[in-house]
Amino acid sequence: MTLELAERESSWHLLYIGSSRQEMAFLDHLRSVRERVTIWETTLYGRPNIPALVSEWIGGTSTTLYCCGPAGLIESVSSDFSGRDDLRVLSERFAATPELGGSFEVELSRSGGRIRVPAGVSVLDVLEERGVDIPWSCRAGICGTCETPLIAGRTDHGDSLVGLTRADDVCFPCVVRAVDDDLIVLDI
Ligand code: FES
Repeated sequence: MTLELAERESSWHLLYIGSSRQEMAFLDHLRSVRERVTIWETTLYGRPNIPALVSEWIGGTSTTLYCCGPAGLIESVSSDFSGRDDLRVLSERFAATPELGGSFEVELSRSGGRIRVPAGVSVLDVLEERGVDIPWSCRAGICGTCETPLIAGRTDHGDSLVGLTRADDVCFPCVVRAVDDDLIVLDI
């Protein structure tokens, strides 16, 4: 992600929290972007005050905060920044990839056409095969990157984003399934 952001000349900052530098991966890779990285060693400094640190890097009216780590950290960050119009939180927990169920159909409302999604294959995979480009990161329903507007259809969302970032009118094509082999309609 840092390489991609540097390539795009985006405005970003990384807060990397670990117990000590000896335990932290990728430090060599981060040298080239060190001015945009804050390394926080908890054995030296204790727990960071994340809202205070992040407030220094927030600019403009639309900031996205990606948080990856243990469940306690994600819950704390989600609660610290809930209800803010100028910032949204996306989080990634490491969890087992959910099972993908039976076959169903997806209708694409804007580009037109219906696609059959085979059992055990994700909507994201099928869309990619059709040349529909949707950004993704985890492919396991935990990061929120592939969020797509859902127009109709009874769905088994299958993601781990309830209460963090998911509204009812969106779904995550890497994990979503139609209930009872039904049809779902996406706004793409
Ligand atoms: S790619 Fe992460 S939720 Fe779909």
